[in-house]
Amino acid sequence: MTDQLLIIDFGSQVTQLIARRLRELNVYCEIHPFQNVTDDFLAEFRPKAVIFSGGPDSVTRQGSPRPPASVYELGVPILGICYGQQVMMQDLGGQVEGGKISGGGGTAEFGRAYVTPTEQRLPFLDGWFDGGREQVWMSHGDHVSRLAPGFEVFGTSPNAPFAITADPQRQFFAVQFHPEVHHTPNGKRLYENFVKLAGFTGDWTMGAYREEAIRKIREQVGDKKVICGLSGGVDSSVAAVLIHEAIGDQLTCVFVDHGLLRLGEAEEVVTMFRDHYNIRLIHADEQELFLSALEGVSDPEVKRKTIGKLFIDVFQKHANSIEGAEFLAQGTLYPDVIESVSFSGGPSVTIKSHHNVGGLPEKMGLKLVEPLRELFKDEVRALGRELGLPDSFIGRHPFPGPGLAIRCPGEITRAKLDILRKADAVYIDQIRRHGLYDEIWQAFVAILPVRTVGVMGDGRTYDYACALRAVTSVDGMTADYYPFTHEFLGETATRIINEVEGINRVTYDITSKPPGTIEWE
Ligand code: XMP
Repeated sequence: MTDQLLIIDFGSQVTQLIARRLRELNVYCEIHPFQNVTDDFLAEFRPKAVIFSGGPDSVTRQGSPRPPASVYELGVPILGICYGQQVMMQDLGGQVEGGKISGGGGTAEFGRAYVTPTEQRLPFLDGWFDGGREQVWMSHGDHVSRLAPGFEVFGTSPNAPFAITADPQRQFFAVQFHPEVHHTPNGKRLYENFVKLAGFTGDWTMGAYREEAIRKIREQVGDKKVICGLSGGVDSSVAAVLIHEAIGDQLTCVFVDHGLLRLGEAEEVVTMFRDHYNIRLIHADEQELFLSALEGVSDPEVKRKTIGKLFIDVFQKHANSIEGAEFLAQGTLYPDVIESVSFSGGPSVTIKSHHNVGGLPEKMGLKLVEPLRELFKDEVRALGRELGLPDSFIGRHPFPGPGLAIRCPGEITRAKLDILRKADAVYIDQIRRHGLYDEIWQAFVAILPVRTVGVMGDGRTYDYACALRAVTSVDGMTADYYPFTHEFLGETATRIINEVEGINRVTYDITSKPPGTIEWE
């Protein structure tokens, strides 16, 4: 059993960033909403250290969220952050006051602040204050007005006299600010010191995660059957391979081919999962159904809705053919999981379901298996590598659910899709040959709904124009066009026009996002 750290979530918007910082230190941690953390839970979880997250409530309010008193008796280090600091202070005999908006000493404070040290030193603060003061991010209304017995002050800010406090004897640490956010630039160091004091050796790895995830899947699923929708994307692929490793043939994957995939993509998915991994796979070749339904449709939103609705119908039809399935697997990632903690009722962790199978679990009465729920995107890639998925597959650019439909502005025809697939394949080949693939967030061709005149050999041509798109981005929310050299662009245009019948003009889209979007529709 790996050493584990428990993060008790009191509802802060940035709780998952705490987990992120700890993972970077190779420490295994789990976030649990405070309602779930009971005496029994603690006895079973046996954390080696505990962190109290921030939260939106006020400890001065009757009935505000608390951990069980037994957490202080575990004999392990505890770190309280913001609301967590106030909880700790009040639980242990200190005092917290409601925030004043302005005025001296202990007022509400939001945004950047600077903390300076007191006379005393503490191993928890190793590597802090080397430059005299540290920038931190504050976001609090209430403040601690009297320390609990045993606590001393180790750092102050103009509006938070108790910015850093600790009871060194019991290894209880409490900070008023958020060390996990980007705006506390040296914050990671505090987590590093904290886990070191708690005795973590930083030996948690993706290999360990894999073992643990497999154990949990087996425990959850038992001898029941699981269905997994495979899109060919990284998340669902990693989820499928992991679940297959856990339960073998109890897993069946459903891969819906809507006829809007890239060149050779369907074959690639089928070969890899069915032949290489030996995973039971239903290859639902529904191209005709989708393409017929899209005939004459040129409005982007109608395209999306048509595809989305058909996808659900088709998936359900094939899933229903798997007798006795009780679980639906999804490649939900951590950023998709919104922790919204209800302060009055029972546990209420809300999940933002992936839109590709949105609403399906309820409709089909299936329970969810989400083995990637605790991972960030780059961690999913690391897990994929750990599971032996090829690098070329793991590093793939994102591909939208509606596929080529939104890269074919205007009406979609089979002929246009064929041309688009070929042009796209040449373009991606060019990018790979020039070693640029990994620098680019997404690259693709859009076939334009316009034909233009050209001249090839001695003849006149009247063919489609296409646009090349390539952007850099961190999360797809904003993007810049990629600055290819003219040489690269010229060579690519020549290749596309020579190799792809049906295209006689190539343009490069140099719009950033905003004001453009990444896709053309
Ligand atoms: P836009 O075009 O909005 O795209 O700048 C941002 C990111 O989202 C992807 N995208 C979609 N993904 N269904 C999806 O699953 C969609 O309808 C959809 N539309 C855009 C796009 O490829 C880019 O990564």
